[in-house]
Amino acid sequence: MRILAIETSCDETAIAIVECSGNETSARFTVLGNALLSQVEIHKEYGGVVPMLAKREHQKNLPHILDKAIAEANVPLQDIDAIAVTAGPGLEPALWVGINFAKALALVWNKPLVAVNHMEGHLLASLSEKIGEQLSISNLQFPILALLISGGHTELVLMKKWLEYELVGQTRDDAVGEAFDKVARMLGLPYPGGLEISRLAEEVRSLGFVNPSSDEGFTKPFILPRPMIDSGTCDFSFAGLKTAVLYLLKKIPDISEKEKQHIAHEFENAVADVLWKKTALALEQTSAQTLVIGGGVSANTHIRRVFKNSVDIRYPQVTLRIPTASLTTDNAVMIAIAGYYHASRKEFVTDIVANGNLSLAQH
Ligand code: KG4
Ligand code: ZN
Repeated sequence: MRILAIETSCDETAIAIVECSGNETSARFTVLGNALLSQVEIHKEYGGVVPMLAKREHQKNLPHILDKAIAEANVPLQDIDAIAVTAGPGLEPALWVGINFAKALALVWNKPLVAVNHMEGHLLASLSEKIGEQLSISNLQFPILALLISGGHTELVLMKKWLEYELVGQTRDDAVGEAFDKVARMLGLPYPGGLEISRLAEEVRSLGFVNPSSDEGFTKPFILPRPMIDSGTCDFSFAGLKTAVLYLLKKIPDISEKEKQHIAHEFENAVADVLWKKTALALEQTSAQTLVIGGGVSANTHIRRVFKNSVDIRYPQVTLRIPTASLTTDNAVMIAIAGYYHASRKEFVTDIVANGNLSLAQH
């Protein structure tokens, strides 16, 4: 089955054409065409995504992105079997652009339409492994625990059966990507901040020292809190960590580049500590056999390393799936993958309503 998928939930305009085969337990995907345009440069000057600007850019760019994906895939229209589109969660003005475009294509081309939950896209795509030129989802043991970490979400979700989700824990305030972006802004780093913080923190690690000492001009090491780390629940909180950075910065009027690096490093360590501790608790509580991390923040080098090492040492019986770099941040291939799972079940729709708060799982 060939799926044409559209993603416009935030600031990436993306269309992918993916050849999908196999069943739920053993599925294969070949990306035939994949066109993506990031709006980062446009939103940068505002320090975050402006929904109305995102909407305007999606409207302007979707037709070109479609031409590009079709040209790359070199597949005649009659060979597309279904159209999948992100229905939520995300920015509603942005979601509507993709939905209306998908509905128009489905009508004109006479193709069935599939509504996709963006977080399910992150989850299922992150379960895939790259084998040669293909992505493969196979050999997975249930239950599957997913840590979904993005700009708008931080949640632990349990999948006991294909496409059935239970919420194990979630953030009570900021999403982890949001905390990365806000702390980056406080440090004067450009949007989106996650990557910038990671770059600074990795520099500190590559220099081989963990705690800045007085010989480097610091009076004492920077220590940030690990909010709710011992709460005994799988819920998270990142607002306090962000505020702690704010108070710390108030005490350093003329901050040096080195001090910024060390704050970025300590912030990233605090985030990774909390994410791992909560995930470990969820692994214990759910006896999950597979752990997957997905969402934009799963691109983070340190978090990937912490999860790989910790699973190896503490849960060697658990299979860890971490997405390949191109599948971490928003893309349309993940929407095609999730779309295929629903299209295989013939879950087609005739109308779609954008839902900015669409949830994947409930307690
Ligand atoms: O999944 P995503 O592309 O969009 C949403 O669905 O929100 O995630 C975007 C988030 C942003 O907050 C961005 O700063 C963060 O992912 N991010 C990172 C890294 N790359 C992207 N955070 C930490 N380290 C990174 N390397
Ligand atoms: Zn996302």
